[in-house]
Formats: sequence, C-alpha cells, structure tokens
Amino acid sequence: MRIALGVSGGIAAYKACEVVRGLFKAGAEVQVVMTRNAERFITPLTLQTLSGRRVLTDDWDDPDAVVQHIELSREIDAFVVAPATANVLAKFARGVADDFLSTFYISVTAPVVVAPAMNTRMLVHPSTRENLAALERRGVKIVPPGSGWLAERETGAGRLAEPDAIVEAALAAARRSSALEGRTVMVTAGPTREAIDPVRFVSNRSSGKMGYALAEAAQRRGARVILISGPVDLPPPFGVDVVRVESAVKMQQAVERHRPEVDTVFMAAAVGDYAPVAASSKLKKTGGPLELRLEEGPDILAGLGAHKDGLLLVGFAAETDDVLAYGQSKLERKNLDYIVVNDVSRSDIGFDADDNAVTILGRGREPLTVPKAQKSRIADAILDHVFASAGDA
Ligand code: PMT
Repeated sequence: MRIALGVSGGIAAYKACEVVRGLFKAGAEVQVVMTRNAERFITPLTLQTLSGRRVLTDDWDDPDAVVQHIELSREIDAFVVAPATANVLAKFARGVADDFLSTFYISVTAPVVVAPAMNTRMLVHPSTRENLAALERRGVKIVPPGSGWLAERETGAGRLAEPDAIVEAALAAARRSSALEGRTVMVTAGPTREAIDPVRFVSNRSSGKMGYALAEAAQRRGARVILISGPVDLPPPFGVDVVRVESAVKMQQAVERHRPEVDTVFMAAAVGDYAPVAASSKLKKTGGPLELRLEEGPDILAGLGAHKDGLLLVGFAAETDDVLAYGQSKLERKNLDYIVVNDVSRSDIGFDADDNAVTILGRGREPLTVPKAQKSRIADAILDHVFASAGDA
C-alpha cells in the first residue's frame, strides 16, 4: 500500500513525524510531499529519515522527472494531508495549483484525506467552512480537528487530530481490493420524507450512516456502486454514484431505473410505509384537531423480490421486539437472499448511531451474529458474509 503524505506550513507540522511512523508501522510505503512553508517548521531530512524516501517539495527538484506529480498520482492508494492549513484547503477547494502539493492534489484520483489544523478564528471563518464543505461534497474525507491548548497560547478548536486517528483514516481510505470488481451494487440509505403539505412531512430517524458505510465498503472492494439516498446530512462516499430522492415513490422510481445495471441490492433505507395525501398549499390552523389520513406506499424491496432474475437481494429489518422471528418472516415474505436484522429499540445502535449490532439471516445458511461495532466494520462483515457464498468476498 502506498500513501502520499502532504505536510503544509503550520506549527502542527512536527506531528507529521508521528503520522509517518504510524503509516510505516502499518506496512505502508510513505512518500512525503511538503510545502516550502512546512520546511520552516520541520526539516525534510527528518521526514526523509522516517519515511526512507526523498521528500518532494517542488516539481523542479528532479530534472529526470518533471512530471513527478502525475507519476506519483498514478502510484498511490491514498493521499493524506496533515496538517492542512487554511491556505491549502482554499487552494484544494478552488483548484489553485501554484506549488507541488496543490498541483499534486488536482492530479490525484485516489481517495484524499485532510486533517485541518489552524487557529480557532481561522477554522470558524466562513471561507474555511465553505472550503471544507466543498471538499467534503467532493468526497474528500475530513479528519476533524480537536479542541485544546493552541500554539497561540489560548484554548479552542483547531488542534490537529491525534496522529492515530489520521493514520486510521488514511489506511481506511487506502485499503481496497478487487474482490468485487465487475459487480455493480445498488445500496439504498436514509429515510424517506412523505409530504403533508408543501412545508411539512412525515419521516423517521434514519441518518443514512449504515447504508453509506455499505456503499463505501463495496466501492473499496472494487464494485461500481449506485447509492440511492434519502435526505441525509452525510458527504457522498468517494467514488460512488449518488442519486438523491425524497419520497418512497421517488426512491422506488430510482431503484427501478437503475435495476437493469445492477447484480446486487442492499436495501438499508428506512422507507416510509405510509404517506399522507399531500395538500397542495400549506395547511392552516383551525383551532381544533387535525386528522391526517395515511395511505400505504410501495414496498420497494418486495417489488424487487417478486422479479429477481438472478439479483442478489439483501434487505434490512428494523425491529424492536422478537427481532429474529420478524426478520425471518420478512426474509421469506419478500423473497430475499439475506436479511440484516437490527434492534432499533436501543439508542446505542441502529437508527442514527455510529455503531450497530446485527444478525444476518440467509437462506440455507446459519445465522451470523455480528457484535456491536462501528457501522464501517458492520458493513465489512455484511459484505464478507453475503459475497463469501457468491465466491467473491
Ligand atoms: O440510517 P441509520 O441511522 O444508519 O440506521 C440504519 C437503519 C436502522 C435504518 C438500517 O440498519 C435498517 O434497519 N434499515 C431498514 C429499515 C426498515 O425500513 O426496516 P423494515 O423492517 O421496516 O423494512 C424491511 C426492509 O424492507 C428494509 O430493507 C426496507 O428498506 C424495505 N422496505 C420497507 C418498507 C417499504 N415500504 N419498502 C421497502 O423496500
């Protein structure tokens, strides 16, 4: 695994040493790329000694390789920038390429991770926030800075994240395999919103985290991934085609439209079973109770199960009691190959939590219980189990 580590000019540049060591210990080859200003805080020789490679600062360093940024961008599995200053974030967001690091960024097609570090005032400035949001929308992974004592002798947000967290994020971004190459996987995620009138809706507590983690994990294994997403507050996973929808009907239309392209579906979305008959203008207060009539909407998963034609179909079951029995009955009723059952009565897993704990039921297979873990790890366990039987975990 080969990782490029960008170091820009801030006091936290010395912590790049810990990042190099952590990546190195994990078995990664590290190529350090520094800005001229970073060299004022830490010498290239230090990072060269730790990484065992000559540090790159400028395109003109090596007369034999004038297009080094392109060569390097072809070879790496991930590009991590730690610390990333406000200036570097602004250049990345705008595509300014006026030194080796920023020119390298716009030639990279591998996943990018940035760990910002700066004074609190600069971090909360609207321009920095807009730049971070723009990068996140583009699929750049942000390792958020922590709070604490800053170099300017004051306390606040903006400290570089712990080197371990940066190493973990870089390795996660770089880890990929070709196990699912050739497959096209559709994942649905998040809630649906069913309109009551132009300003109100009925929805549920799904955050989309489970589905997004599955989409990201499948993409890392080499699958082409189409993510049909309800309204959520999550950045698009790197390399995934995201189709945004609101209502169950719109989600069903998107699923049906993309159905011919895919061989596997993971239905992690919490689809509204019922929808109001939406009023065309905003409902007014009448001084008395308001009755809402809800009508049953489409069952997207059951629709797919009715015409499988070789589709590998995986549903989820959000249950609060008798979880395995209800899960089993949904597996059969909806004609699924697998169902991932989670207990949504708990606040530490399921809806809107970072963790989950699931049991995977499959036709002709022993149930697999995956204990509580981060949703990214649960996603990997689901892919391992489902694709092991298809021969390509
Ligand atoms: O998004 P998070 O906050 O990370 O939370 C994750 C989750 C709890 C939403 C997820 O793990 C999960 O359980 N998703 C399924 C939620 C759900 O709607 O479960 P269900 O038991 O009501 O439905 C069973 C299956 O049928 C699901 O795959 C669902 O997507 C599908 N369904 C349900 C209703 C409907 N009208 N159409 C459907 O396709």
